Amino acid sequence: MTPEEFRSAGHALVDWIADYRTRLARAEYPVQATVKPGAVIAQLPTAAPTHGEPFAAMLADLDTIVIPGTTHWQHPRFFGYFPAGGSLTSVLGDMVSAAFASIGLNWQAGPALTEVEQVMTDWLRDLMGLPATFSGVLQDTASAASFVALVSARERATAYGAARAGMQSGAPPLVVYTSEQAHSSVEKAALLAGFGREHIRAVPVDAAFRLDVAALTAAIAADRAAGFTPAAVLATSGTTAVTAFDPIAEIAAVTQREGLWLHVDAAMGGSAMVLPEYRHLWAGIEAADSIVVNPHKWLGVGFDCSLYLVRDPEHLVRVMSTSPSYLQTAVDRHVRNYRDWGIPLGRRFRALKIWFALRDQGTAALQTRLRAHIAWARELAAWASADPEWHVMAPVTLQTVCLQHAPAGLAGEALDVHTRRWAQQVNDSGAAYVTPALIKGRWVVRISIGADHTRAEHIRELWSILRAAACAPPAV
Ligand SMILES: Cc1ncc(COP(=O)(O)O)c(C=O)c1O
Repeated sequence: MTPEEFRSAGHALVDWIADYRTRLARAEYPVQATVKPGAVIAQLPTAAPTHGEPFAAMLADLDTIVIPGTTHWQHPRFFGYFPAGGSLTSVLGDMVSAAFASIGLNWQAGPALTEVEQVMTDWLRDLMGLPATFSGVLQDTASAASFVALVSARERATAYGAARAGMQSGAPPLVVYTSEQAHSSVEKAALLAGFGREHIRAVPVDAAFRLDVAALTAAIAADRAAGFTPAAVLATSGTTAVTAFDPIAEIAAVTQREGLWLHVDAAMGGSAMVLPEYRHLWAGIEAADSIVVNPHKWLGVGFDCSLYLVRDPEHLVRVMSTSPSYLQTAVDRHVRNYRDWGIPLGRRFRALKIWFALRDQGTAALQTRLRAHIAWARELAAWASADPEWHVMAPVTLQTVCLQHAPAGLAGEALDVHTRRWAQQVNDSGAAYVTPALIKGRWVVRISIGADHTRAEHIRELWSILRAAACAPPAV
């Protein structure tokens, strides 16, 4: 494709995207994909075309093949999982990144790529009220950031012994502590970082789903008595199921006393810290060794964009650094080489979409948007609380509401069957999308508010949709 052909195809594509978002904002598509498994595969040729095809044919396939096979996360009545950043300016930022198609192997291979990232990570850190003692890097996902955090913890706990002798050093096993409400990526990170399933402690939580610090302290003491080496605590600011916040200050007191690494998974809840009135939820955060926040969740920046912040970048570089001759440059001592701050060598210009999104929106509008989502969540919870058949199953800390519809006489397994039935009915209807989840062994339905096109009227519509599905007789 020549630049002139690109101009014409690009204009058509931008029109297509604008039309798609306009129709989406009007809720013209069913939220959930309408296809059965294998339906998309069945419509694709089994091999790449021998001769090039017109761009118009590709655009047409978006409508006929891709749209029916897409669950629309930016739909105004998408309330599943978590909000996915979808601002159109961030789409444009990604487009420029793809157009440069340059790869930041080191500063010299992409000075602007590196330095815009440096400034954007500082902007985000400051926006969340974190001290300048933290330095940031963009990763693809929180999963990767938590993995890096645990590798860093492992190396600090062994004085770089695991890097030297691998898993064969014969030292006592290292132990990682997290709460039973932690995201599955935490367990995965611990497994991949070599701690082993037997050395991951899922500490119980209190009634508000926050890590129980007394239980953490007891678990550490028991492990020390057994000859193990406690290495790290992974706390969560905004758990996946109910958006609970672990008590960071109390946990930090333990990790400092015990000499453990403290990593805070704020993948979801961190976004709320752009609102000063919510920063008490992670009080004590300045004592963390590392933090991950996903701007690609609630801050409007498109996937993938995960902010990893560390207090000691030198330790990170020492753990991650490899410096083959072909990557060395004359300025290495004076610049950041982000390849040493994470797993991949190559990096794209991810910071552009943050830069575009923040400049387009401004921080005031961003804060207004987040405050509206929180207010709508409280409103929904209030409607449910006012109805004796509905229960709000967890504190509504931010924009997530966990609901159960429990008509008289329905309990236990039968209630679970009912909950899963009406949740599926909502999703299959295409009118709204919600996520069923287990809390304390019982099924609830999570409503996560924050899609780009959601407005107050969509919350009112959701409440009607939920009541209609929950009160409908089961299909035979
Ligand atoms: C608390 C928490 N941590 C981690 C993750 C994983 O995020 P990612 O997909 O960026 O790895 C999620 C996402 O669902 C999450 O809610």
